[in-house]
Amino acid sequence: MAKMTPIRSQYLRIKKAYPGAIVLFRLGDFYETFDEDAKLAARELEITLTSREMGKGLRVPLAGIPYHALDGYLAKLVSKGYKVAICEQMTPASGRGLVAREVVRVVTPGTVVETALLQGKANNYLAAVVAEADEAGLAYVDITTSEFATTQLPSSSLALELGRLQPAEVIVPEGFDSPDLLPFALTRLEGRWFDVETARQRLLDHFQAATLEGYGCAHLPLAIRAAGAILHYLEGTQKPALGQLGRLTTYTTQSFMVLDAHTRNNLELFQGSRWGTATGSLLSVIDLTRTAMGGRLLRRWLGQPLLNLEELVQRQDAIHWFYAHAMPRARVMSLLGQVADLERLINRVRGNIASPRELISLCRGLELIPEIMKNLDSAPEELKPCPETVELIHRAIAEAPGASPGEGTVIKAGFSAELDELRELARNAKAYLANLERQERERTGIKSLKVGYNKVFGYYIEVSRPNLPQVPADYIRKQTLTEAERFFTPQLKEYESAILNAQERINELETNLFRQVCQQVASQGERILASARALAWLDVVASLAEVAVRYGYTRPRLTHGDEIIIRGGRHPVVERFLGEGEFIPNDTYLSNKDAQLIILTGPNMSGKSTYIRQVALIVLLAQIGSFVPAQEATIGLVDRIFTRVGLRDDIPAGQSTFMVEMVETAHILNNATPRSLVILDEIGRGTSTYDGISIAQAVAEYIHNHPHLGTKTLFATHYHELTGLAAMLPRVKNFNVAVAEEGGKVVFLHKIIPGGSDRSYGIHVAQLAGLPRSVVYRAQEVLSQLEADRQHKPSPKPPPALQLPLLGPGSPILEELQRLDIDSMTPLEAITKLYELQRKARESQA
Ligand SMILES: Nc1ncnc2c1ncn2[C@@H]1O[C@H](COP(=O)(O)OP(=O)(O)O)[C@@H](O)[C@H]1O
Ligand SMILES: [Mg+2]
Repeated sequence: MAKMTPIRSQYLRIKKAYPGAIVLFRLGDFYETFDEDAKLAARELEITLTSREMGKGLRVPLAGIPYHALDGYLAKLVSKGYKVAICEQMTPASGRGLVAREVVRVVTPGTVVETALLQGKANNYLAAVVAEADEAGLAYVDITTSEFATTQLPSSSLALELGRLQPAEVIVPEGFDSPDLLPFALTRLEGRWFDVETARQRLLDHFQAATLEGYGCAHLPLAIRAAGAILHYLEGTQKPALGQLGRLTTYTTQSFMVLDAHTRNNLELFQGSRWGTATGSLLSVIDLTRTAMGGRLLRRWLGQPLLNLEELVQRQDAIHWFYAHAMPRARVMSLLGQVADLERLINRVRGNIASPRELISLCRGLELIPEIMKNLDSAPEELKPCPETVELIHRAIAEAPGASPGEGTVIKAGFSAELDELRELARNAKAYLANLERQERERTGIKSLKVGYNKVFGYYIEVSRPNLPQVPADYIRKQTLTEAERFFTPQLKEYESAILNAQERINELETNLFRQVCQQVASQGERILASARALAWLDVVASLAEVAVRYGYTRPRLTHGDEIIIRGGRHPVVERFLGEGEFIPNDTYLSNKDAQLIILTGPNMSGKSTYIRQVALIVLLAQIGSFVPAQEATIGLVDRIFTRVGLRDDIPAGQSTFMVEMVETAHILNNATPRSLVILDEIGRGTSTYDGISIAQAVAEYIHNHPHLGTKTLFATHYHELTGLAAMLPRVKNFNVAVAEEGGKVVFLHKIIPGGSDRSYGIHVAQLAGLPRSVVYRAQEVLSQLEADRQHKPSPKPPPALQLPLLGPGSPILEELQRLDIDSMTPLEAITKLYELQRKARESQA
């Protein structure tokens, strides 16, 4: 085997310890990658792949990036899902012996701290998940903001909670698999790090606590296991972050309204333009926050609507104060606009990675706190000015410091006597050298004599070739150029070393002083963090008040009752895309007692989908504490919003898509409670018309009749056949979207009125869409023909369960009985079927 160089063996040893990561190996001014890593880096980063001799007859592939360009390349690799171990030189290169090298951190999607890799208004979560039987533990952390939380929840809710958090990375024990994890970047850890005793001990050590009682998770083993695994993982990847995790919150998912992924998407809470139309998300409309931390908080509020009335009223009160006080609102918002991301900044300071400029931004932000407080009647308790910190930074750090300490431009004059002295020394020596040129010209009579400096040779006196004969005897030759000679004198040498020494000591001292200042600021970290969070809260509250004023929202009345009453409600997003006054407001009355299920019919494009979503959005806004787009509203708190949206017209219906639709519908029917709100938009569309109508109707009947449901439901459909239900089921109400005809053309009024629509306006829509007049005319002819035919023939399959005697011809129970193949059933199947038929018979009579 070829004999390898010491560096090569060092590299291989380190690489072996980080098998899952790309190792960036610091070699002087470069981070190098070797072997397979090099090939991968060359491909992904579009850098050159070369090779390097690392032993006799041993050439290995190599690709490198300059050290100062690390961030950009790191961003690329991490965003592509790679993990990157950064291996630094731990001792200065002395030219003799091997430089010590160590991996200082492993950058993974969930542990990035580089500002360039983070989104300002979104959190970057690292989550850990562990499950046992039906229970799961889920912990998450955002190391850029020190948010650290854990919970224990039913395994079936795991997908929901992960969906809400959208973690950048999820840690799971080896061998743990679940379809819920598919959408996420997974990191597998050895199972023992999830062991409950190991995890508990790690948490206790970390918080230096004797019990986890105070953290609320002492009796939640799965929550402990997940949280402990996170700490273990950070230890190995991003150790400095550990020091900043001062708090662990245990929370329960039961205190929040459940919003599943369908609902988040269908209601376009965070992402709009699902259908390629130019509509925005709800968040984009209500987010007038001025700080990144406020933006993150609002996003969290919207993802976790509350169920607790008192908490909601507190938010409402705060919003109301800003709503009613225009001047302070404007002042506070404009001040907040000047506040940097204090939450992340203080974390960078505590993690020892803040730059001098970031310290200045932190200081500017803190300075504004008293200003902001002046504009408030009562400030949040956690909001505290930090005058000592502000004063310290002012005293220590230059107004416009250099990018990093050690260049002599960071620490202010007057902060350190020692530093001032050194600077004075360097200044004097420089002044001496500046004079030296004039002096030496006079002394030697050489007009073109120059004093200069370069990195390799230091200070020198340069004399051009023709003048060399005039050089005095005390000049000592240093360097020969083609056109000139360079010299030094003993005196010059002396000043040179004075300057260089001073410079070196200045840099060293400045770096140390900067670290000290950072440490002092970090010692106030908890207080600053608390203030940062209070500012974020103010930002959200003021911004929601601003939304309310700007867009005409009102404060809803929240109750524990089961009514939803909205007068003059509007769709918060759609109205923003229409001109002033163009959006037609509509009323809503839903109640478990007498108006539980609204069937909304109307032609395409009349506004059905908009209306039913607007009701859901108003409820949702009310339950984050916000005001709502309505003239007035009373909202009985809802535990969950379900939405099911049938296929769009342009996706060809197939068995499988229909299956998906039915599975989702089944999910609603199985999970809704009387306190839920269900939004059904055109369900049953993914199949033939008659199947569709039958299923839609059966679903509506089930929601209406099932003793455990009685769920408030809005059902938009273009099957006007369904309007017949209202006559059968007492709590079903028909509504339709008013349409006017003017000169043979349809005009959509977007007004929701009682009663069912009984006509299809499809042909008129075709006309609106610009189909040739002759086609529209012919369509009208065909329609009249069809309608005439229908009056003579019975429809091919009457809508089931309606107006039919229980066991008379056409009854579904009878049909089912007729179809049964009793010979092929086991006795158990037979008796089960019998029970089922009996239940159906009873239900349809009830
Ligand atoms: N209340 C309203 N006021 C004004 N325009 C509306 C209203 N509701 C809907 N619209 C407009 O009508 C369009 C179609 O609405 P949509 O709800 O998709 O109809 P449908 O579901 O009945 O096909 C919307 O994009 C919007 O521009
Ligand atoms: Mg629609």
